[in-house]
This record gives sequence, C-alpha cells and structure tokens, in this order.
Amino acid sequence: MTLSIFAEAVASQTAINGHKGSLRPLTGRLSQRVLAVPPSGIRKYFDIAASMEDVVSLGIGEPDFITPSPILQAGIRSLQHGQTSYTSNSGTYALREAVMQMLQRLYGGPAYDVERELLITVGVSEAMYLAMQALLDPGDEVIVPQPCFVSYTASVLLAGGTVVDLPTYASDHFTIRPEAIRAAITPRTKLLLIGFPNNPTGAVMDLDGMLEIARIAEEHDLLVISDEIYDRLVYGDHRHIMFAALPGMARRTIHLGGMSKDYAMTGWRIGYAAGPADLIGAMRKIHQYLIMSAPTTGQEAALAAFTDPAVEAYVRQMVESYDVRRRLIYTGLNQIGLDCFEPKGAFYAFPSIRATGMNEHEFCERLLVEEHVAVIPGSAFGKGGEGHVRCAYAASIEQIQIALERMARFVHRHG
Ligand SMILES: Cc1ncc(COP(=O)(O)O)c(C=O)c1O
Repeated sequence: MTLSIFAEAVASQTAINGHKGSLRPLTGRLSQRVLAVPPSGIRKYFDIAASMEDVVSLGIGEPDFITPSPILQAGIRSLQHGQTSYTSNSGTYALREAVMQMLQRLYGGPAYDVERELLITVGVSEAMYLAMQALLDPGDEVIVPQPCFVSYTASVLLAGGTVVDLPTYASDHFTIRPEAIRAAITPRTKLLLIGFPNNPTGAVMDLDGMLEIARIAEEHDLLVISDEIYDRLVYGDHRHIMFAALPGMARRTIHLGGMSKDYAMTGWRIGYAAGPADLIGAMRKIHQYLIMSAPTTGQEAALAAFTDPAVEAYVRQMVESYDVRRRLIYTGLNQIGLDCFEPKGAFYAFPSIRATGMNEHEFCERLLVEEHVAVIPGSAFGKGGEGHVRCAYAASIEQIQIALERMARFVHRHG
C-alpha cells in the first residue's frame, strides 16, 4: 500500500518534470521593484579576489576582531540556559531599555518610551528596510547623500520610492552642504537619509553642520533617518553627535544603530531603531510578519555589551587599534601620491586615485590583477565616489603595510 502511494507520487512528479507546456523566461516575471535595483558593485571584486592567491584585501567592511569575550560568554550562557525561543516582537524589554540608557549616557539621547519607541531588528540592514517600507509610497522622494552604504538606495527602491542623489565632495571632506539639501527638496520629498560616521568615506559631521541639517528638517518638515552604526568608532578630537538628540529632532528622526561594528558582532545580526511611536509601530508591524523577533542569542549577547562593565575596555582597545591603523593608512596613502583627507570615523579611507590617470574601475581591476590588492571603486557607493576608492583598514598592520608597498609600486609604475 505504502509502496504504491510512493510509486504514484514518483509518477506524478515525473509527469511534472516531463511536462512539455511552454514556460516563459522566469526573469521576465520578476517584479519591477526588484529589477530596478542594480546589482551591488562590490561583489565583482570579491569574486575576482577569491579566485586569486596572495591577495591582500582592504575590501571588506567588517571588524577583524572576534566579539569581546564577555559578550560571547553571555550568548553561550543564554543557549546553555535554554533561551532558544522567540522573544517579544519588539525584542526583549531589557535590551530595549539598555539601548535607551546607553544612548542617553553616551550622547544625551531622548528619553524614549521603551515599550513603544524602540525596536530590536536583524541588524541595521533590516531596520533600514523596515523604515522605508513603513514610510514610502511610489513616487515619494528620499534625499540620499552619497557616496553611501550600498543598501540605502536599494532599500528606497525596494519600497517603491525615488532616490534623489545628493553628491558630497572630497573638498568638503565628504560632509553635506546644507544648500545642496535645500536645492534637492521638492513637494514629494518625504525623507532625508544621513549616515555619519560614513561608509565608505570615513567622514564625520561636526555640531554646526548637524544643527544646520536639523534647521532644514524643521523648516521643511522632513523626516530624517540617521544611520549611526559606527557611533563608537570615532577618532582624534571628534565626538559623535546623535542627530535625534539635537533640539526638536527626536520627534522627526528614526535613529538606527547596531552591534555589528562597535562590538565586532556582524554575525549575531542585532540592530535597533528608536523614534516616534507611530513610526516605530509601523515598522514593528512589518517586522512581526517578516521576522517575528531578532535572534534571541544575539539579543542576550547585545544586552551584555551594554550592561557588563567589562566590555568598555574591549571597545576602547578596538577603537585604539583602528586608530593606529587609520593613521598608518592615511599617511601612507598621501605619501604614495593618493590624496586622502583625514577620515575621523568608521574604518575606511577614501583616497583620490586621479593621479594615476585611471578611473576607479580600471584602478581597482589593475591593482588586483597586477599587485593582488583588493580595494573597492568609490562609485560603487553612488554619486561623488568617482575618482576614489574605498580602503577598509580593518586589516592587520602587516597587511596594511604590504598593501601600501604594493600600491606604491603600482602608482609609481602608472603615475
Ligand atoms: C553604514 C552602514 N549601515 C548599516 C550596515 C549594516 O549593518 P548590520 O550588520 O547592522 O545590518 C553597514 C554594514 O556595512 C554599514 O556600513
């Protein structure tokens, strides 16, 4: 009996597989939303690099540390204690409260309502996607200063919105010109998306610049999404400014942050969104159907990152270590003739490669093939990135030194 049911199933499967009816090309059936998103300009170089030996990669925007031990242990402990079920859709209350307290302690952040104004997400990536899905209707415009993290424009397009490019320039150290925002505003503008410290440039904005942006947001009644995932990774005399902590901004800003960079926790997939209850509520509605709740183990580990006093020393050490490498790469690039402004945040340097006479694609391809060094073309991050490359310095000092030697040889040969 069982065997005959099995035989029938196999027979019907064969009929499906062997069906001779027509099949229109599947790509022709993809949604316009998906087709509107260009493929990431970063992948290609990783694929070439992966097929070569002896490559020094300054390509990957990911900490080269493993997660600090107290955080790691908290994650392991939570598993050993059997914390393997979903949490509340919003994330654990303890973690939301810890996020709010951390933002207040470090940046004078708003007194968010922990129940209604905070959401724990699967990284800033999910939070960004949710924010766009919650806010945009087709044709709504989002002003996106560029170059910027690759998923900003993708998230806008996937939500049916329109990206309004706002190039930033090396001559301004890739900060935003307030008058450029004013010029980009139209009756369809719904959102301004900012991200400082910046990926890919390493740029930061000072208080005056941020206040100017806040003034424009107020004047034009704009909502602002501020991606501050690199908030702890700032150097020299720069102090991070939380945009939502500026006067009047909490009620119009969705603040995004996460564990990936500051705490070397990319694989744990934890981020958070904080903002007005109506907006966070709408994001939570999508999140509960899409995700249910962010990874439980990651949430327990993230809680330790904010509440275990032993963690701070690890963060300081990581920041100091990035700072040493930052100075090494920034001086090294300038010495070999690749003009680079001083990056004061994240772990990226963004030198100009114009001295070589090549465009950024040719530079990256030839550097990889001739000298086995992987860097990313600036234009992969949008307008304003032309003529530049992104060098991530979350690599060992030795690797950075080798990369600089090889780049010097390359520039000498082609400069
Ligand atoms: C500026 C910026 N925002 C967000 C992300 C995504 O981070 P997460 O790991 O939290 O999704 C990245 C990752 O590279 C980033 O550089």
